[in-house]
Amino acid sequence: MGKKKKVSRTVLGIDIGGSGVKGAPVHTKKGELTDDRYRIPTPQPATPEAVLEVVRQIVDEHKWRGPIGCTIPGRVIRGVVRTAANIDESWEGYNARKRFKKELGVPVTVLNDADAAGIAEIRFGAGKKKGTTLVLTLGTGIGSALFTDGVLVPNTEFGHLRFDHRIAEHVAADSIRTKDHLSWERWATKRVQPVLEMYEFLFSPDTIVIGGGVSKPERWDQFGPLLKTNAKLYPAALGNQAGIVGAALVAREAVLKSRR
Ligand code: BGC
Repeated sequence: MGKKKKVSRTVLGIDIGGSGVKGAPVHTKKGELTDDRYRIPTPQPATPEAVLEVVRQIVDEHKWRGPIGCTIPGRVIRGVVRTAANIDESWEGYNARKRFKKELGVPVTVLNDADAAGIAEIRFGAGKKKGTTLVLTLGTGIGSALFTDGVLVPNTEFGHLRFDHRIAEHVAADSIRTKDHLSWERWATKRVQPVLEMYEFLFSPDTIVIGGGVSKPERWDQFGPLLKTNAKLYPAALGNQAGIVGAALVAREAVLKSRR
């Protein structure tokens, strides 16, 4: 029997967000990008076809022929997108895994963007393998990933919980800070703090990790220290790259699993 070809440790991770599509090859053992990251603004309207073209551009830029992990800012169940709050609603019911694989001609794994960021933070960053960790990404929306002892409950979508008669992400996402011209202090204390209190009440996490662009040190320093939580609170150690890294990790695991 011939020996099976080794699965490369490097996998292309692509993070599709409400405002940008970012991608880079990732060394899945080190959790590090092995080449430049490309960022292309998310096309508007962000239909599956338009986003797929941008994904193709990133694949071509990297001359990539191997497996790809791709995040989607919506609920993803067995490769099918089930909700789309910050991208075009035509994503709902779209089998992203099947269509991307067919169009790009390589194995593709798709998952929720916050789940991907959370997986990367648990493996390489500020998330903890013991106890309950809640990873929140504050960007265009609020993404969430909940872990107990390192095991993910996928597609939690806590950004869509009701808060004060509104949807939590319409109160406390980073996009609302800019839209409503809020100071860092006002956004942290009046918007993020009460929403965090609701999450703490519901899930009693031991650790909370805040990801997204706001986890960059120059931004975190402006608001992170103002937040008061029972849980230990950290900015994402992988910053805004956590989604790319997590997507690549999950894609490599899927390839390994398919060969067993
Ligand atoms: C979506 C989530 C996503 C989050 C961050 C929310 O609007 O429903 O699936 O994780 O935005 O992108």
